[in-house]
Amino acid sequence: MPSPVLHVMGARPNFMKAAPVVSALAGRGVEQRVVHTGQHYDERMSTVFFRELGLPEPDVNLGVGSGGHAEQTAALLVALEKEFLTSEPALVVVYGDVNSTLAAALAAAKLHIPVAHVEAGLRSFDMSMPEEVNRRLVDQLSALCLVTSPEAIGHLANEGIPVERAHFVGNPMIDTLLAHLDRFDPGAVRRRYGLPARYAAATLHRPANVDDPRQAAELVARLHEVADLVDVVVPVHPRSRPTLDAAGLRGHRGVHVLDPLSYVEFIGLVRGAVAAITDSGGVQEETTVLGIPCLTLRPNTERPITITHGTNRLVTPDDLVPAIRKTLTDPPPADPAAPPLWDGQAGPRIADVLLGALGDH
Ligand code: UD1
Repeated sequence: MPSPVLHVMGARPNFMKAAPVVSALAGRGVEQRVVHTGQHYDERMSTVFFRELGLPEPDVNLGVGSGGHAEQTAALLVALEKEFLTSEPALVVVYGDVNSTLAAALAAAKLHIPVAHVEAGLRSFDMSMPEEVNRRLVDQLSALCLVTSPEAIGHLANEGIPVERAHFVGNPMIDTLLAHLDRFDPGAVRRRYGLPARYAAATLHRPANVDDPRQAAELVARLHEVADLVDVVVPVHPRSRPTLDAAGLRGHRGVHVLDPLSYVEFIGLVRGAVAAITDSGGVQEETTVLGIPCLTLRPNTERPITITHGTNRLVTPDDLVPAIRKTLTDPPPADPAAPPLWDGQAGPRIADVLLGALGDH
């Protein structure tokens, strides 16, 4: 008996977006199939998130692994097409903007299986980012565009996507954050990793920041200057490790380099930080809800609501040290006007839309 709803996930940020959707559909007795593409495969990049978030074990792991964009996307397409032909889902649900998301949407659309895209319509307008390419293509291929932020509907309309396809449902990543709020314990993280009481938490993994050794060295130099003011804790993504290590990230006694953290540990770390320094999309959203000042080392963001309704600020490497200094002496007030519908109920709203669409079929 085919499962009506098939979820595709594969990379770290997919898991916290999928968990509330899978849970809301399970609560309504919907039969579901969870497909892990294997884009991320390390225990600390994948398995630990399933355990902590109560996601069901994947029904299948396609084991696609790493590779160049063409190699990885091609392998994902081949494996996902086979999977869809075998399991014949009525609906494929994809999350975010990673290569697994694009491949799943493309494979499903070619087989005439409707696609629902969770986190549709975000735009950085920077086509040098692989995620921006993925987002635009996935939205064109999706029958249901599930939107976390109101301006996304305008972006979709500007690209010719009929407004009936767009549903403003709120942010399921924030459902996950709010559901686990009492588990995020900065003290436990500090004790486990021997960290000081006062620190900034930094994450860097965007290709534009970490792939080029010169750019990585520039950022490491800035982080060392930040560490002259306040200790810096850096859980390092495996992609970033070679260039950050080569640039001597550990060569300052105020810099604490960690392996990737689990979800509960990472949000615990951020919750206890004086500021976050990041190039991650998810961290911009999480700090907005936690009220932690966020300095984003990017020239743009696809999540402007984290600036207008949150704690986020875009900084260049040159801006970073003055921005941290200002944050330490004069922390910005947390904006009380939280982004609309970031209320912990996105999963149930998404389930309503998906069930409505399944009913129409
Ligand atoms: C991917 C997403 C990015 C997301 C990020 C979150 C794309 C195009 N990019 O980037 O949007 O923000 O995930 O983490 O899909 N690696 C490991 N172990 C793993 C996974 C990866 O060591 O479990 C290393 C490999 O050397 C690999 C590299 O990280 O080549 C990059 O992995 P990949 O999945 O291609 O992209 P990310 O940089 O993780």
